[in-house]
Amino acid sequence: MADQISIIAPDDWHVHLRDGEMLSQVVAHTARRFRRAIVMPNLRPPVTTVASARAYRDRIQAACSADLEFKPLMTAYLTDTIAPAELEKGFREGVFAAAKLYPANATTNSAAGVMDLLQLDPVLETMARIGMPLLIHGEVTDAEIDIFDREAVFIERHLVPLRERHPELKVVFEHITTEQAVQYVSSADRHLAATITPHHLHINRNAMFAGGLRSDFYCLPVAKRECHRKALRRAATSGDRHFFLGTDTAPHERASKESSCGCAGIFNAPFALESYAQVFDEEGALAHLEAFASLNGPAFYNLPANTRRITMQRRDHLVPELVNGLVPFHAGEILSWAVADAPDQVQL
Ligand code: NCD
Ligand code: ZN
Repeated sequence: MADQISIIAPDDWHVHLRDGEMLSQVVAHTARRFRRAIVMPNLRPPVTTVASARAYRDRIQAACSADLEFKPLMTAYLTDTIAPAELEKGFREGVFAAAKLYPANATTNSAAGVMDLLQLDPVLETMARIGMPLLIHGEVTDAEIDIFDREAVFIERHLVPLRERHPELKVVFEHITTEQAVQYVSSADRHLAATITPHHLHINRNAMFAGGLRSDFYCLPVAKRECHRKALRRAATSGDRHFFLGTDTAPHERASKESSCGCAGIFNAPFALESYAQVFDEEGALAHLEAFASLNGPAFYNLPANTRRITMQRRDHLVPELVNGLVPFHAGEILSWAVADAPDQVQL
């Protein structure tokens, strides 16, 4: 059993860094572990223009130490009225790496999202032509559909027809949570890929109800049954190029998580890499961690892999109950993998 592994430095292909005070509290947790990160645009107001993405990128860079050499990759928030020319301009100028599709009201800060996917076809045609990836929050918003079925129904109702209309469009099915999504993505061509979060590899839906209502385990898409978690673990640890690391770290203030209408989102950035390493170890697949964390994502985005390397070692460490006043994923648990030559916690 290996006690140490060295891998090419990883990237995180799905993060929420927030803005203002919260940005300065959370960005270092991502920047000290990941060389690049796809930054989600669901701010208030959302990032819909090249100018606002550039300004947000500057704020992110100003909030984290230059020695970390962290590179935020910005995304555009698709609305019913976004102009294809704005996306093309941002992509060609190297500001937008991709565009994010939130079905309207599917999740946190998605009220300005897309109401009718068919209306988006001119935007998607432009994106396909210029090679700009579409990142999808894949859940239907139809209140008649059971919340645990919303991802599987989205595949049939929206994703399959969308990909038939735009076969050349590069699509990332974000934070997948079901065996239906695993099946659909793994049998697709190279234009489709998926990110998988650490929490969906560790917990099933019971975690939200263990001994009471546990808002720290509530995120969207919501965790599903155990059979789905197992399917996700097989997919992530398989080495299959369709799957790569995207933490979906989504911090919320304690008061917003604990209110009678608590926010969806799990803050996993402080120990995400350690969390993934544990899963790969448990599945006997440490040899595939590098593909998932450091190779498959850049290959999909047509970017070079990082040149630096990192070493991880088997070392038990306790995850604190709070990190910068926020509850981190795995709070109070012992994780068995750590990053060598680095403190387990960031000092801010
Ligand atoms: C995200 C957030 O809080 O911004 N929440 C979440 O539960 N994942 C939004 C999202 O990615 O759905
Ligand atoms: Zn997200």
